[in-house]
Amino acid sequence: MGPFAKDLLQDKVVLITGGATGLGRAMGEQFLQLGAKLAIASRREDTLRMAATELSLDRHDVFYKVTDVRDPDQIHDLVDAVEQRFGQIDVLVNNAAGNFISPTERLSPRAVDAILNIVLHGTMYTTLEIGKRWIEQGHPGTMLNIVTTYASTGSAFVVPSAAAKAGVLALTRSLAVEWARYNIRQVAIAPGPFPTEGATSRLMPMPEIEEQMINRIPLRRVGNKEELAHLASYLISDYASYINGEVVTIDGGEWLQGAGEFNDLLEITEEQWDILAEKTRKGK
Ligand code: HXC
Ligand code: NAP
Repeated sequence: MGPFAKDLLQDKVVLITGGATGLGRAMGEQFLQLGAKLAIASRREDTLRMAATELSLDRHDVFYKVTDVRDPDQIHDLVDAVEQRFGQIDVLVNNAAGNFISPTERLSPRAVDAILNIVLHGTMYTTLEIGKRWIEQGHPGTMLNIVTTYASTGSAFVVPSAAAKAGVLALTRSLAVEWARYNIRQVAIAPGPFPTEGATSRLMPMPEIEEQMINRIPLRRVGNKEELAHLASYLISDYASYINGEVVTIDGGEWLQGAGEFNDLLEITEEQWDILAEKTRKGK
């Protein structure tokens, strides 16, 4: 049982890119439970078909179309098809992404393009296609961009992703101002680690990496997908109608633990604190 009224998103038409797997799918599932109509789009037809079939079981309205967000023509056709099916689009969730860990000096230009083209260009193309239509139709709308905490901080070993997500964050904040006059709202979510097959296989391929990650999270656990879906449901709902241009972090406090100068003192024992207290009192 979630925290929201069953009709929180009643009849809102939501398009989620990358909506067949991982966090995209978890968001879609919850949006449907809250009354939304759902369209999902990504490259693999089998995953899309399976997700749409499973998500429709409860007599929910789910549409899917194979789409590569790197191709503006395919996005154009996708938006046409969703409008034809549901009559309109009310919410766009830019969730499709690509990523992998690698020392930056090992990357080829094609490897850089692989990430930038999905994350930055794909998000930009989808945003443009739908934004132009909303403006022409005089239709209000909400765009939710899924970024990461390192969109703000940067991160070693995922440099193309960090650069692309930083671009998406800048897009969010820029359009929050420019398109507010058309009643188009921009919001973003910056997740910390949430185990999904897509992310775990490319970013935490060995259990040691996940273990190290948990030690860096003050709440000492990774996130679960429903927690992120709750946040997304609120942000796209009319109850968040005055939130525009904001990015909400959901990471158990991870990035702050990495940032605070004295945070490593968490490792110090009570006995060591007794000794330190003696040493530090009155500057002794
Ligand atoms: C180095 C790599 C590489 C790797 C691919 N390449 N993987 N280089 N290390 N691990 C290089 C290839 O050699 C090639 O360059 C170029 O990248 C393109 O590779 P393709 O396989 O042809 O790319 P493509 O088919 O477009 O696939 C894109 C992809 C793939 C990003 C590489 O992993 C994918 O489809 N990912 C989608 C799902 C995903 O990544 N989900 C994770 C999201 S999690 P050359 O020069 O050899 O031709 C996330 C945030 C998580 O975003 C944050 C956690 C806290
Ligand atoms: P995921 O399951 O791998 O999701 C990525 C989705 O994007 C897949 O469904 C993939 O489907 C789709 N996609 C990739 N390239 C595409 C393209 N060119 N065109 C259309 N769709 C494409 O991983 P996830 O963990 O759920 O990630 C979802 C979002 O959360 C991403 O934006 C990611 O950056 C963000 N995020 C995740 C985490 C985490 O810990 N999981 C943390 C921070 C941020 P196809 O391959 O079939 O196209």
